[in-house]
Amino acid sequence: MSTPRGFTVRRARPAEAPDLASLARDTFVETFGYLYRPEDLGAFLETSQSVAAYAPLLHDPRVGIWVAQDPHQGLVGFLTAGPCKLPVPQREDRAGEIRQLYLRAAVQREGLGTRLLALALDWLAAEGHAPLYVGVWSGNLGAQRLYARYGFEKVGEHDFPVGNQLDREFILRQKKAAPPSPAVAT
Ligand SMILES: CC(C)(COP(=O)(O)OP(=O)(O)OC[C@H]1O[C@@H](n2cnc3c(N)ncnc32)[C@H](O)[C@@H]1OP(=O)(O)O)[C@@H](O)C(=O)NCCC(=O)NCCS
Repeated sequence: MSTPRGFTVRRARPAEAPDLASLARDTFVETFGYLYRPEDLGAFLETSQSVAAYAPLLHDPRVGIWVAQDPHQGLVGFLTAGPCKLPVPQREDRAGEIRQLYLRAAVQREGLGTRLLALALDWLAAEGHAPLYVGVWSGNLGAQRLYARYGFEKVGEHDFPVGNQLDREFILRQKKAAPPSPAVAT
């Protein structure tokens, strides 16, 4: 599927763990690298953003991973989604989660994040997940604005570890779609 600037958006392939891990490391550092001490950032990248972390996800049918590819620059963005793993009290059995959504800085604010998000939300719903959650750093106002457009609202907070640093993350849940208005009797 092509987007206006010629990006292809598609499901990630099982053999792409090295490319995906490399993109995940680059985009995390670009976005949040300034927040951490080098040792905390290094520990996080080595574990959570590694080939060993992504390879099993790419083979897990419960997890959906999409990538955006530029014909010249390779992979420029990705999204991962699946069953919700956030620490939500009394989490619903079928709760789903947008787990990661990251684009390279050079391709942001052109609608690509929206494109990836819309695809993943449709997929989660088709897989029978409800309600849908996302965790977002408390200081990430841009991403919070994007999720708000899709009906996500804050329902909690938790600490997200990056090495030994704990970041305050908001837990957002998508509001149920409004029921159709009843027909007005005439
Ligand atoms: C957040 C992100 C995925 C959004 O994707 P994108 O392609 O840049 O965003 P879109 O062009 O689809 O924009 C959709 C809306 O999101 C909001 N938004 C996105 N990034 C924003 C920013 N940096 N500042 C303010 N609003 C932002 C805006 O409301 C925007 O609509 P607008 O351009 O009409 O104002 C992308 O910017 C990104 O990868 N950022 C760095 C990583 C990150 O923060 N990921 C989220 C982790 S939870």
